[in-house]
Amino acid sequence: MPPEPTAAASPYSRTNPFPARLLINRSLCGEDSGKDTRHFEIDLTGWGLNYEVGDSMTVWPTNDPALADEIIRTIRAKADEPVKSPSRETTLREALLRDCRITQTTPKFLKAVAERASAAPLLNDLLKPERKQDLDTYLYGMEVIDFLIEHPSIQWTAQGLVDVLAKLQPRLYSISSSLKARPNQVHFTIDVVKYESRGRQRKGVCSTFLAERAENVPIPVFPNTSKFRLPEDGNTPIIMVGPGTGIAPFRAFLQERKAVGAKGKNWLFFGSQHEHCNYFYRDELDELKRDGILTRLDCAWSRDQEGKSYVQHKMLENAAEIWKWMDSENAQFFVCGDARRMAKDVDAALRTIFQEQGGKSEEQTNEYVEKLKSDKRYKRDVY
Ligand SMILES: Cc1cc2nc3c(=O)[nH]c(=O)nc-3n(C[C@H](O)[C@H](O)[C@H](O)COP(=O)(O)OP(=O)(O)OC[C@H]3O[C@@H](n4cnc5c(N)ncnc54)[C@H](O)[C@@H]3O)c2cc1C
Ligand SMILES: NC(=O)c1ccc[n+]([C@@H]2O[C@H](COP(=O)([O-])OP(=O)(O)OC[C@H]3O[C@@H](n4cnc5c(N)ncnc54)[C@H](OP(=O)(O)O)[C@@H]3O)[C@@H](O)[C@H]2O)c1
Repeated sequence: MPPEPTAAASPYSRTNPFPARLLINRSLCGEDSGKDTRHFEIDLTGWGLNYEVGDSMTVWPTNDPALADEIIRTIRAKADEPVKSPSRETTLREALLRDCRITQTTPKFLKAVAERASAAPLLNDLLKPERKQDLDTYLYGMEVIDFLIEHPSIQWTAQGLVDVLAKLQPRLYSISSSLKARPNQVHFTIDVVKYESRGRQRKGVCSTFLAERAENVPIPVFPNTSKFRLPEDGNTPIIMVGPGTGIAPFRAFLQERKAVGAKGKNWLFFGSQHEHCNYFYRDELDELKRDGILTRLDCAWSRDQEGKSYVQHKMLENAAEIWKWMDSENAQFFVCGDARRMAKDVDAALRTIFQEQGGKSEEQTNEYVEKLKSDKRYKRDVY
């Protein structure tokens, strides 16, 4: 076997990502789950690079071929027509598969539709700067294909369409494994984005690329360094709050702490919809508890009773213990997952705990939180 290339010698970079291979793609949900959250294991043998737990991975997806083909048919073009895409000279089909964003619209695309369509008064009106909010509401759940179907009178050339589409962007995923526990691999915990709007089934580009189209094709990946790091001292206790896919980096943290024999206590707050079908990694967490690695595990099942139970409610139920870990035992506090609501509510719960348990005023609490952040004892990886 040839030796593994070293990081310095690795030919891979953000502009030349490593072509990884899918090893495992399995559901983390039971049969009657309303969500499709999946566990992925990806082979990195031969990449010669490194990542640390807490990092994320950049993944370059390919668009859904069925959607690309539908776009080509709808504009009555030929798949092999030559075009200049945002990154190269290629064919229309290749550009729509690999180079262009073909789901969400761009202002350039909408303007082109409004200018060329014989009847698009609504769109013309919505494109006025003062109607930005109405435009966003109108566009929610609308994709490029909807406009192409709705305005068949527009004569698109292949190049004309490619010119008004944006560049397909890669996606980031929190890494859910440790190289010390799973050498040459990276694991992800991904919610597969699927929803219906205006009578069509829509699919998130990258999550469905991995879930449905990545078997036997290269998955271009490159690591993305983060500041979301375990404490350097393995004796430092950590509190981890990771509902939903937010559990990803904490699975990696626990693997790493077990692999290096770190003695620090580990407390995980996990939250999901239903205990019977959305308890991600239950067997692994049970084993980590048995091994004494996972000191405490508190789960919030949001839809198993009247009224919501969320991770922040579990935190408040354990306020005195959290305060003890943070104030007397110098613990570090980590949050991962939804930025829009969860991370804000968890932050508010943490402040309530500091006020009530620590006897602090609002101002003292703000200072305490700022100090935790500057001491790198309160870290967030939210999206
Ligand atoms: C640092 C970081 C770490 C991340 N880690 C993870 C992770 O560990 N696991 C994970 O699953 N994700 C993670 N994400 C999110 C991930 O990067 C992608 O954004 C996510 O997988 C969706 O990408 P997609 O290409 O599948 O969907 P896209 O093609 O990007 O589609 C998503 C878009 O679809 C639209 N949409 C979604 N639902 C609806 C609806 N019901 N109605 C109308 N429109 C809708 C919204 O515009 C949304 O932005 C992370 C993001 C960051 C920044
Ligand atoms: N950029 C993207 O396209 C993208 C992709 C993936 C995820 N995300 C974001 O990440 C979020 C998390 O997705 P996910 O699949 O990991 O998790 P999720 O399954 O949507 O949520 C996990 C758990 O958190 C609960 N929850 C809802 N609101 C909460 C709050 N304010 N505080 C605490 N817990 C709350 C949910 O309860 P209920 O559902 O019962 O209320 C559920 O039990 C998504 O909602 C989305 O905002 C974005």
